[in-house]
Amino acid sequence: MERWRGRVALVTGASVGIGAAVAVELVRLGMKVVGCARDVGKIQKLAAECQSAGHPGVLVPFKCDLTKEEEILAMFAAIKEQHKGVDVCINNAGLAHPEALLNGKTSAWKNMWDVNVLALSICAREAYQSMKERNVDDGHIINMNSLCGHQVFSLADAHFYSATKYAVTALTEGLRQELRAENTHIRATCISPGVVETEFMSRFYNDSPEKAAGIYAAVKPMKAIDVASAVTYVLSAPPHVQKLAAECQSAGHPGVLVPFKCDLTKEEEILSMFAAIKEQHKGVDVCINNAGLAHPEPLLSGKTSGWKNMMDVNILGLSICTREAYQSMKERNVDDGHIININSVCGHHVMPHADLHFYTATKFAVTALTEGLRQELRAENTHIRATSISPSLVKTEFPLRLYSNNPDIKARVFSAYKPLEAKDVVNAIIYVLSAPPHVQIGEVQMLATEQKS
Ligand SMILES: NC(=O)c1ccc[n+]([C@@H]2O[C@H](COP(=O)([O-])OP(=O)(O)OC[C@H]3O[C@@H](n4cnc5c(N)ncnc54)[C@H](OP(=O)(O)O)[C@@H]3O)[C@@H](O)[C@H]2O)c1
Repeated sequence: MERWRGRVALVTGASVGIGAAVAVELVRLGMKVVGCARDVGKIQKLAAECQSAGHPGVLVPFKCDLTKEEEILAMFAAIKEQHKGVDVCINNAGLAHPEALLNGKTSAWKNMWDVNVLALSICAREAYQSMKERNVDDGHIINMNSLCGHQVFSLADAHFYSATKYAVTALTEGLRQELRAENTHIRATCISPGVVETEFMSRFYNDSPEKAAGIYAAVKPMKAIDVASAVTYVLSAPPHVQKLAAECQSAGHPGVLVPFKCDLTKEEEILSMFAAIKEQHKGVDVCINNAGLAHPEPLLSGKTSGWKNMMDVNILGLSICTREAYQSMKERNVDDGHIININSVCGHHVMPHADLHFYTATKFAVTALTEGLRQELRAENTHIRATSISPSLVKTEFPLRLYSNNPDIKARVFSAYKPLEAKDVVNAIIYVLSAPPHVQIGEVQMLATEQKS
């Protein structure tokens, strides 16, 4: 976070909840944070707390009703005048009204649309213009989305809210594509939490507090600070490159890397590996299903042997390791284990590359397997967590192996844009593992900043 010290972040909806936690956290890390909301008194109180805590940054309260474009524009003008402009824009303000599609009030739908979608778009536009006019090439726009932006839950009260959050999903990806077309390195990210304990539910069900309390009682919700940690993770620079076994020892790292030869296409080899781990180290607490490969075998003409090999490693090897890791945790009463599947952006979108279609199918399977695993773990009442990490092109041997028979493509594979590095995926793994036990990061999607589609 060092590079963000002294720079300007706008956090919308900073009076309470997630926005307040994000604002304070960024001030603690040395940023100049403009926090806006209608109830500016609460932000003034937070600013005083930051000051008396001796945080190196500063919180600047700003009163703004985000349903009024003129107030948003006046806020950006004031930020320009007083602080030059915005380097980071956190579109956090958001709300829900329990107004079902079959009988809900239009005024409530409009209010959700105005804050969750329109204000977010206006702020993103103004933030980008502010960065552009100052040649800020490393800015970041973060949209506070929700799980409801990816899945329609069977709760009529939340259907319109869900539509606004689906819009946030589309807006974030659209923004990313427009930024790429402008050849800037400004980044766009959305963060999609599940239930977080804030004022959100009591405002949602403001006429029936028992309903709000019921939702929090039904799940152990996350805390606002957990979402603030996701924001600082997204903003922070990646850590050092992961070292290999020998280097680990000579570098004096406190852990140890134990090499084990195993062909994941052979179940007996996987089982003997788990047996050896049990004998020598008691068992597995974390299982990172990282091994995976692609063969360029299109659906219309590909070799069955190539397809089988991808299935064996990417799906079956991963599933066997998952089962064995879970059994190992269970027999030792390990309740805080973690199974992380290295998925791919191909696990979420079918790209128009025939060579990748079968590989994509194996990664779609990983998406389903990770969510299925999460559900089975819940049914077992354990706190073992399941996460999928989905990077786009990473600079490893993977694409070089994929195109080993096609020197032309092989030579160009990393030339279109600066790809992710292995250390960026390591960084995501460390972030996922270090989340507090009640927080399950379900999915991390990572794209190279310069990537167009
Ligand atoms: N809590 C959850 O379970 C959860 C889960 C997933 C996603 N989220 C998302 O996380 C974000 C923050 O939610 P939260 O849980 O922190 O909710 P919260 O505690 O209810 O806080 C909402 C914030 O939005 C601000 N806001 C609402 N309408 C506004 C307006 N017209 N103008 C300016 N500010 C306005 C509020 O400030 P004032 O009232 O002072 O104006 C407040 O600071 C939202 O986008 C929400 O959709 C929340």
